[in-house]
Amino acid sequence: MTAAERSTRIDEALAEASAAFAARHPKSLALHERATAVMPGGNTRTVLFTSPFPLRVEHAAGAEITDADGLTYLDFLGEYSAGLYGHSHPVILEAARSALDSGLNFGAHHGAEIALAEVVTRRFGLDLVRFTNSGTEANMMALSAARCFTGRGRIMPMQGGYHGGTLYFSHGASPVNAPFDCVLGHYNDIEGTRRLIAAHADELAAVILEPMLGGGGCIPADPAFIAMLREETARRGIVLVFDEVMTSRLHPGGLSARLGIEPDLKTLGKYVGGGMSFGAFGGRREIMELFDPRRPDALPHAGTFNNNTLTMTVGGVAMTRIFTPAVCEQLNARGDRLREALNELFMRYQVRMSATGQGSMIALHPAAGAITRPEDLDGIDKRLRQLLFLDLLEQGIYIAERGFMALSLVVSDAGCDRLVRAVESHITRRRALLV
Ligand SMILES: Cc1ncc(COP(=O)(O)O)c(C=O)c1O
Repeated sequence: MTAAERSTRIDEALAEASAAFAARHPKSLALHERATAVMPGGNTRTVLFTSPFPLRVEHAAGAEITDADGLTYLDFLGEYSAGLYGHSHPVILEAARSALDSGLNFGAHHGAEIALAEVVTRRFGLDLVRFTNSGTEANMMALSAARCFTGRGRIMPMQGGYHGGTLYFSHGASPVNAPFDCVLGHYNDIEGTRRLIAAHADELAAVILEPMLGGGGCIPADPAFIAMLREETARRGIVLVFDEVMTSRLHPGGLSARLGIEPDLKTLGKYVGGGMSFGAFGGRREIMELFDPRRPDALPHAGTFNNNTLTMTVGGVAMTRIFTPAVCEQLNARGDRLREALNELFMRYQVRMSATGQGSMIALHPAAGAITRPEDLDGIDKRLRQLLFLDLLEQGIYIAERGFMALSLVVSDAGCDRLVRAVESHITRRRALLV
């Protein structure tokens, strides 16, 4: 098959899979049409938009979601890692009910925020912490704190990094990014990034990165890259920020603990709030103390819902009673087994696919060979991702359209086997397009 013939066949397969999806989802389509009248593209969270139109979910329980057309899917997306506990976990429900019973918006300090701060600081090795409503806000605050602490203006995110809706660096900076003055580093490029840090040392307030790129394709950091960043930032007085909004679930103390390298600040989000809106930033005392309101020159940190009782209560319960260190280890071991099983499948069928990631975070890519930098994904055919997504939906499996998966605690080994079989069926059906 020539490249042109292959491309035509991919278009045909996608058109057929999209038509079959549309035929199975008349109610989702009707809701989509209604939504487009009041939201741009019928959407209020870009990543959830999928072609030809997105599923509308009506109900979720345990490891499953059910759409408006009554079709049920095993949920491997795990709400982009925030849904770690599965849907409607009884302990989460009980905690949420107790928060509702005690009152929601006090407009005052309370005990639940202390309990969550104690858990989070102990677990993730932070001297002090402050809460926000989202991971985006946590990163914005951490970067702003670093700028105030150092008296410098610029920041270094990584090319291909994602730190929230206003901190998005895929193929350069997004036009809606917050106007931080950025120099982009290169993930896992030790010497190139070292040179960039040296060249901008006097202007750089912070270097920010995920210790494994999450949304950027589940690409783990080379430990030597992380060690270089720690060494260079420490000797140049630059604040090193690890965005552990996703990766903190990969080890009981977060991925930095597993790597044995502590940044100056860490940011958290997603599952730590037990599934409620959540974010946090924290770390070294000297930096975080800038926010101490007892100081005459204290930095302000506002947010009506920063200490909302729902998140504070549910997060504290989830982190102590459900996601214990032992449970964390088990979940990530299951994820490692699943990724190995998927990669064995790709080897066996000799298809150009791979599963990257670490522990409970996995990304499927229509590409073979080593994927160690975001640039390694530049040439992939996004239509093949879409085809996999639609084929898996047809078999009752839900992942992100871009191939991302985050295992929740309620997806069992049998569920993982079901995913492997569904991917195998996609391979046998589409093999000519994948070799
Ligand atoms: C690594 C990382 N940082 C920050 C964020 C932003 O978090 P939120 O969506 O809660 O603003 C995300 C969200 O996907 C993320 O993956």
